[in-house]
Amino acid sequence: MKNIQISPSILSADFSQLGAEIKRLEEAGADMIHVDVMDGHFVPNLTIGPPVIKALRKHCSLKFDVHLMISPVQKYIEAYADAGADIITIHPEATPNLSQSIKTIKDLNKQVGVSLNPESKVELIKEFLDQIDLVLIMSVNPGFGGQKFIPEVLDKIKQLKNIQKDKNLNFDIEIDGGINFENCKIAIDAGANILVSGTTIFKGNGGDIKKNISLLKLK
Ligand code: DX5
Ligand code: ZN
Repeated sequence: MKNIQISPSILSADFSQLGAEIKRLEEAGADMIHVDVMDGHFVPNLTIGPPVIKALRKHCSLKFDVHLMISPVQKYIEAYADAGADIITIHPEATPNLSQSIKTIKDLNKQVGVSLNPESKVELIKEFLDQIDLVLIMSVNPGFGGQKFIPEVLDKIKQLKNIQKDKNLNFDIEIDGGINFENCKIAIDAGANILVSGTTIFKGNGGDIKKNISLLKLK
């Protein structure tokens, strides 16, 4: 049984103080930092790119769990690896050759994640599960924080757990979008071992991020 890890999304942080914000998250017990990269093309929002990630790298020793909501993604992977990403997660719809993109990330000695949007089926990535370190299950349609959790995606987590058992695979299962104190337990019980949260961590309990992180860990 894997330990439950919390990967706070900085999309909900104060963008004018991102260095201080990720320091705060590290001190508050975050296990990694979820960096939502959006290009205004793959998703209807635009956030940050490699220069910002590079600037943040020295402010925090935690893993940067970089979620690339960009397309085309292939030609930008190396720039995120060089900027300091530790986990690089891509969307299958963002590359014409998922196998090549996975290999590119692994050749850069980074952990590779593949993300499934709420409507996307596990079958889309089943053949790659033995090559990847993490599956990111989107429980909202990507693009914005503060959206409503889509519980139907939990069936995909249960399906992934069964595949893990059948094939003796050990990839992490991360869930991302609308995670809060009410649904974190059902997400964990379904089999997620990494929870991403932005709004709940930064806004819950008057912004007590230490308390919010431990509550999401069911501690
Ligand atoms: C949405 C992002 C999520 C989002 C999570 O496209 O991938 O990481 O920021 O934020 P909350 O927890 O507010 O739903
Ligand atoms: Zn994300």
